[in-house]
Amino acid sequence: MNMSYVIAVAGKGGVGKSTLSALLVRSLSELTGEIVLAVDADPNANLGDKLGVKVERTIGQLREDLLKQADDLPAGMSKQDAVMYHLRLAMVEGEKFDLVTMGRQEGRGCYCYINNLLRTFLDGIMDDYRYVVIDNEAGMEHLSRRTCQKMDMLVIVTDPTVVGLTTARRILELAMEMEVAFSHSMLVVSRVRGELSSTLVDAIEDAGFEKWTTIPHDDEIDRLAEEGLPLTELSKDSAVAVAVRELVNMMH
Ligand SMILES: Nc1ncnc2c1ncn2[C@@H]1O[C@H](COP(=O)(O)OP(=O)(O)OP(=O)(O)O)[C@@H](O)[C@H]1O
Ligand SMILES: [Mg+2]
Repeated sequence: MNMSYVIAVAGKGGVGKSTLSALLVRSLSELTGEIVLAVDADPNANLGDKLGVKVERTIGQLREDLLKQADDLPAGMSKQDAVMYHLRLAMVEGEKFDLVTMGRQEGRGCYCYINNLLRTFLDGIMDDYRYVVIDNEAGMEHLSRRTCQKMDMLVIVTDPTVVGLTTARRILELAMEMEVAFSHSMLVVSRVRGELSSTLVDAIEDAGFEKWTTIPHDDEIDRLAEEGLPLTELSKDSAVAVAVRELVNMMH
């Protein structure tokens, strides 16, 4: 079987998870020549915007449609076929990546059956890609209703503060307590200006991550965000792009 390498990006609100996810998708595909699967698992989805593609449908919307259709499928179409068909519709195919947007759970129906089917199919789809990047919602609740079975790399993003690091550490501890299956962990200190203080470095090294690295602050990223432009516009020579490439190399 073709095994994929699954990278899940987590962390508290506004630290730069989606920015890093989008840049990881770009970097991974450039470095490997592979089409990367991007999964936006944040109900308040914006990875499509950051990747510069338009999302027409979310899994949340298709789940709703499937529930309505369940007893009324065209002749010869099984529920499995229907899920697969709709899942393909909910995928945006880019040049260097494919994107699946989970969206929100819309209604109040009973979704267990459909959710299980979706999970099975998503896991199946992931196997078709060498690399999968999952952008998660802020906080740690999502770890309990995770989108996939396994993660190879749990990336936790933090701002360069001791308080931020405490949250990152808590998320890592929770992931371990909940026996969320991940093989490796990495802390990414984002939006760094200048040198990190030695106090912060000591705290980072004490936090229990296998590896850690930094991403510099870059006004260009803020400018793109301000204007609603995708991160594909970010120059490949920018310090952030270089740092993300180094981060990718650290994963192997
Ligand atoms: N390295 C960076 N340099 C400058 N600005 C950055 C950097 N990384 C992220 N930002 C800015 O920080 C803000 C939040 O980034 P982003 O949306 O990636 O965070 P997030 O963790 O995904 O947030 P949320 O928790 O809301 O999903 C954005 O305006 C983004 O442009
Ligand atoms: Mg985000």
